[in-house]
Amino acid sequence: MKSIKSILVASIGLMLGITACNSGYMRRTPGYIYAPDMTYSRAYDAYTSNPNFSDSQTSRPPVPGAIAVGHALPDHLMENDSMAYKTYTTSLRFNDDQMAEGKRLFNIYCGICHGTNLDGQGPLYTSGKFAAMPANFKDGKYLHMPVGQMYAAILYGKNMMGAYASQLEYAQRWMVIAYIKKMQSENGGDPFTFLASATPAMASADSMKHEDMPKAAVPVASATTAAPKPDMAKEKPAKPTHSKHKAH
Ligand code: HEC
Repeated sequence: MKSIKSILVASIGLMLGITACNSGYMRRTPGYIYAPDMTYSRAYDAYTSNPNFSDSQTSRPPVPGAIAVGHALPDHLMENDSMAYKTYTTSLRFNDDQMAEGKRLFNIYCGICHGTNLDGQGPLYTSGKFAAMPANFKDGKYLHMPVGQMYAAILYGKNMMGAYASQLEYAQRWMVIAYIKKMQSENGGDPFTFLASATPAMASADSMKHEDMPKAAVPVASATTAAPKPDMAKEKPAKPTHSKHKAH
């Protein structure tokens, strides 16, 4: 009697085990459903048609003016509003690596004219191939130049100097400016203020709130993977939508 019982239990177990196995072909039906809410979504799935919208699409485009995580808010600078440059600034702060990167970028993009010594004696100018005297950043005229004005020079160019907005993304522009300001502070300029406090992340909480972070500033990888579009910066404040970018 005892052995019959155990055979019965064993064979029931075996049967259940076998039925639990995949039957070997692709099943399109869920079989028995104990919790239909979990099997059949009550919400519309992405990429399905949807009668609630005029284009019948469930997936919606972002709200106009939405800014992807890691991108900069538009700076609302306008090319001819040179008064606004003077107060424009950033809360980005840089560590030593980023300062070194600022120097590297400066030497690539700016040194040819402004000189790797920042004295306006870059090879393009000293060779006589470029007529206009580039700004001598060690000169009194530029020593105390507001950072926003420098930013505008990169963004829009200045007279004979072309714009570098498409070569340098937002954080890189500020790294270059920080480097210039560092060098100036060592040559009679204002005290250097771009240095990140040592621990733990290199940027203040304030900057995390409303600006993109330089790549190395945040230990969490995803902070800035995409560069903000340079032309985003040219959007006028009155225009709340950023969906139509003009190509450079
Ligand atoms: C092709 C040469 C050239 C290059 C490259 C160049 N500049 Fe200039 N830059 C100039 C000249 C020329 C001026 C002086 C413009 C004037 O005042 O007429 C100038 C002026 C400036 C000024 C002063 C702006 C002002 O409002 O007076 C800043 C700041 C500046 N440059 C930053 C940069 C930075 C940063 C880079 C690199 C991203 C750079 N420049 C690359 C030629 C150049």
